[in-house]
Parts: sequence; C-alpha cells; structure tokens
Amino acid sequence: MSFWTVVRDFFLNLRNGADYPLRQFFRWRRGDVRWKDEPKESLFADLPAAERFSAEQLAQHLRQTYHLDHWYHHSRARIYRESLYYLALLEQAFQKADLHLAATVTCADVGPSDWFYVQALYALLRWYEAPQGRKVTLHGYERDAFRVYADFYSRYDHALAYLKGLEGVSYIPRAFEAQPRRYDLILMLFPFVFLEDHLLWGLPKRLFQPAALLAAVWESLKAGGGLVIANQGLAEHQAQQRLLTEASIPIRAAFRFDSPLFRYSLERYVLVAIHPATD
Ligand SMILES: C[S@@+](CC[C@H](N)C(=O)[O-])C[C@H]1O[C@@H](n2cnc3c(N)ncnc32)[C@H](O)[C@@H]1O
Repeated sequence: MSFWTVVRDFFLNLRNGADYPLRQFFRWRRGDVRWKDEPKESLFADLPAAERFSAEQLAQHLRQTYHLDHWYHHSRARIYRESLYYLALLEQAFQKADLHLAATVTCADVGPSDWFYVQALYALLRWYEAPQGRKVTLHGYERDAFRVYADFYSRYDHALAYLKGLEGVSYIPRAFEAQPRRYDLILMLFPFVFLEDHLLWGLPKRLFQPAALLAAVWESLKAGGGLVIANQGLAEHQAQQRLLTEASIPIRAAFRFDSPLFRYSLERYVLVAIHPATD
C-alpha cells in the first residue's frame, strides 16, 4: 500500500466518521421518487450484431419466464437492463450449485444499497422452477440507507420506489445481524471485501468487519439454505474465497459470470455455499 493510499484512507475515514453518524441521526426521507419510463426496443443497440441477437433472445426468455412485463414497461432502460443481468447471474448461481427453492422462501439480501434490482430478484425467487409461483418473503438490510443522492432523495426513498407493488418485501434500514436459522437463502451482492471500497462508499473504518458479517450470515441460514456471493474482479473473488475457507464454509460453486446483458469494467465472479444439513 502506497503512502498516498494511506493518507487518502486516513482522510476518508475522518470524513466518514463524521458524515455517517449524521446520516443515521437525520434519517433523511423526502418521499415518492418518480422516474420516466423508457422504451426498451433499443436496449442492446450498443452491442455488435451477433451479441445483440443473443442478448435480445436472453432478455426475451427472462421476461417471459419471470413475468417481467410490468417491470419492462415501468422502468428506465439502463436499470431494467442491469437488473436483467442480476437475474441471469443469480439464476446461473442456482443452476451451478444445484440449489432448489421450496414452496415458500424466506430470503435476506445483505447490503442492497438502493435495491434497483429488487423487481428482478423478487421475480426470480417467485418463479424459479415454479410455474405456479411461490410465496416470497424478502428482507433487504442496508446499513447506510439514509445517504442522500444528487436528486435530494435518500437511498431509502429510492429503494421504496423500486420495491413498490411487491408483496412480502421489506427494506430494513440497519446493519445485518445474526438471526440463527431464519433464512432459506441469503445474498451478498458485491459486499465490501477491501477496506478501500468500504471507505469510498462512505462508511467509517470501525464498521469494516467482513469476517464477522460473513459469520453472522452463515449462522442465519437454515440447514440446507443457500448463500450466494457476487464479487467484482479476480482479486476480490480470491479474497472472498479465503474468507469462506477461514470460516470453514464449504464452497459448492465458484464461477466467472459473463453475459451480453450488461458489461462492467471489472469482471463479475460468483460463489455459492450450501449450509450442511447438520452442524
Ligand atoms: C457495494 S454495495 C452493493 C450494493 C448492491 N448489493 C448492488 O449490487 O448494487 C454494498 C452495500 O452494503 C452495505 N453494507 C455494508 N455493510 C453492511 C452490513 N453489515 N449490513 C447491511 N448492509 C451493509 C453498504 O452500505 C452498501 O450499500
């Protein structure tokens, strides 16, 4: 780590140490966020022809299988496209780990930020291998829910707008804590593995405890329950794998996820663990 990184982290921590408690104190909420629904016909116009064709086929398949018509018509194009990517990533995680959901599912998403992808996530939980649908309970635990966005609405306001109309879904504005054997499925989609990212997202250093968070999550799974973790970049993926190994969490599936549905500058990786039937 360079001298300047140390200096930057020092000042970020100083700023976050003041800002974060203030956000928690004021708990800023402005109300209903509205956006302009956008057409989706040219969703993949940036891709070369062959890739565009496969992205369109895939998007059509996901829209039908997971009943996404409402979200298709009532969303912004970029958000719809990126949430399709999340859906496809999670679907592949279930398939690779041979993970099946029961007739009802209780799921936690740890650190959903503004939960722009919640409609797609809910659709996956409701319809995955279940043509008749299943009952879904979904809890999103967000430690920094009151961060104020450029439009002066908070992350909380945005999250409530994204989850509108979904039954059994709650956005919980606090850090995740262990709840022994409560969940069938827990998701950690891009958790902070490196201190730098945690600080850049506005959190104070004292709250950076990836191993403790992982232990709390693992303890909160039912026997046979699944944990899906997505990471960005190979270094983060490998560090995440080490965290799982140190916590004696057996990895059922590990893979790099590539899809024409969305492109990021850092490649995405996925890990899946299934809680053993007995300890
Ligand atoms: C990189 S963001 C990922 C956001 C989202 N899952 C996504 O894919 O866009 C990580 C989020 O986790 C939240 N977070 C960090 N530690 C947490 C904890 N212990 N409990 C709940 N949320 C936490 C952060 O505030 C941040 O919003």
